[in-house]
Amino acid sequence: VAVTPLAVELRRDDAAPLHVQLAGQVRHRIAQGLVSPGARIPSSRALATDLGVSRAVVEQSYDQLLAEGWLVARRGSGTFVADVGSLPRQGPPGRPRAAPPPPRLVRLGTGTPWVDPRHEAAWRRAWRDVSVATPPADYPDPAGLAELRAEIAGYVARTRGLACTADEVLVTSGTTHGMGLVLDDQAPGAVGIEDPGYRAAVATATVRGRAVLDLPVDAEGVRCDVLAGTLQEVAAIYVTPAHQHPLGTTMSAARRVALLEEARRRGAVVLEDDYDSEFRYDVAPLPALAALDRRQVVHLGTTSKTLTPALRLGWAVADADRVARIAEQRDARHDHPPWPLQRALLTLMREGSLDKAVRSARRVYAARAARVASRLGHYGTLTTPVAGMYLTLLTPPPVARAVAHEAREADFEVPTLADYTRTDDRAGLVVGFGGVSDDALDAALGALEASLRRHA
Ligand SMILES: Cc1ncc(COP(=O)(O)O)c(C=O)c1O
Repeated sequence: VAVTPLAVELRRDDAAPLHVQLAGQVRHRIAQGLVSPGARIPSSRALATDLGVSRAVVEQSYDQLLAEGWLVARRGSGTFVADVGSLPRQGPPGRPRAAPPPPRLVRLGTGTPWVDPRHEAAWRRAWRDVSVATPPADYPDPAGLAELRAEIAGYVARTRGLACTADEVLVTSGTTHGMGLVLDDQAPGAVGIEDPGYRAAVATATVRGRAVLDLPVDAEGVRCDVLAGTLQEVAAIYVTPAHQHPLGTTMSAARRVALLEEARRRGAVVLEDDYDSEFRYDVAPLPALAALDRRQVVHLGTTSKTLTPALRLGWAVADADRVARIAEQRDARHDHPPWPLQRALLTLMREGSLDKAVRSARRVYAARAARVASRLGHYGTLTTPVAGMYLTLLTPPPVARAVAHEAREADFEVPTLADYTRTDDRAGLVVGFGGVSDDALDAALGALEASLRRHA
C-alpha cells in the first residue's frame, strides 16, 4: 500500500510541545476526512526525517492517536488511518489568541464593592483555617453547612429583622443562583420584574424559558397593580424593596402590602433581592419584606456586595418546606455549594470580620455618596443618598447619552438608565462609586461635572 503523506507544519515558537502539535494536526485531518480511512501513513522514522524532529516526537504522537483510536497499527505492515467517519468541515484549529491588553477604562459600575484593605488579614486567616481543616469525604449538604446556615440565620435576624432558623436558610452561589433555584421549583408561569431593574434577574428568568413581565416602578416602588391587566400565569415577582435597583427608592409600606396581596392571589412567589441594604447610611437597615410573610417571600442575600462578587456565595431564606424541596433537587444534580468557600465564610462571619467589612464600607460609601451628590446633584434629579454604592441622576435622554459618550472618550465608563430598562422612558446616569479609588472617583466626577455643565 502506498504511503499517504501527512501535510503537517510544526512551529517551534508555539506554546504547545511538538508532539502535541503533530497529534493535533493529524487528528484534525482524519476527523475532517482529509485523509482516507485505510490510508497508510509514513513510518515514524520517515516522518521524523521529513519534519526535522526526533523520532521520539513522532512516536509519542502516533502512540497517542493509536490510543485514541484515530490510527490503527498492523504488525509488520505499518500504521493506518482508522475508519471513524467524518465530522462537518471546519477550518484548521487556530492558534490561541493572545489575551487583549487590560483596558485602561475606569468603570463607575454598580457591581464592584469597596473593601477595606484592613480586611485582608481576616481574609487570609479564613483561608488558612480552610487549608488546615480536613475536607469531608463525601458531598456536602446540598442546603449548605449546618454551622454556616445557623450563622446566616443569626446575621439576617440581626441586620434585617428577619427572625429565622437554620433550616429556613439555603446557602447559594449568590442572588442570581438563588433566584434560579426558586424558579426551578415553581410551576410554569411568567416572572414579573421591576423595570428599570436588574438585568441579570431578567436573564435568570429568560434562560429558563420563562416570559418576563416588565413591572413599572414609581416613587413608592414596584407597581404590581399592572399585573391585574394580564391573563398570564405569574410564577414569581422579583423586587428590590430596600433600595430599588437602580432608581434608589425604598418600597413604601402600602406598596409592600399590595405586592404581597397580589402575589398571594396569583400563587406567585416574591423574590426579595436584598443586595445592598447593609449599606444603609441614614437609618438602620429596613426590616426585610420576607419578615411580613415567610411563605410568600424568598429573601435573597449575597456576599457579592460585602466581600467580592468573585466569591460566588449568598443565601436564600425561605420556609423550611421550600428549602427542603430545593435541597433535594440540588442533591439530585450535584449542585452543592463548595465546601471550602462555605468554611471560609463561616470563619469570616464567626470572627465578626464580615460585620467589620460592612461597617467600614458603609462609612466610605456615605462619604462618597455625599461627594457625588454635592458635585452632580444640581444637574438633574438625584436619588436620595440613603444606601449602597451608586447614585442615579435623572436627566433628559440626550444629556445622559452625551455625557456617557464623553466619559467613554475620557477612558471611563458610566452606565445610563437605558442599560437597565426595556420599557421605561426615564433617562439618566447611574454613578457607581464602589469599585474605584478616591482619586479615580474625583477625576471622574470632575469630568462628569464639566460634561454635564456643557449639556444640561
Ligand atoms: C441588584 C443586584 N442584585 C444582586 C447582585 C448580586 O448578584 P450575585 O449575588 O449573583 O452576584 C447585584 C450585583 O451587582 C445587583 O446589582
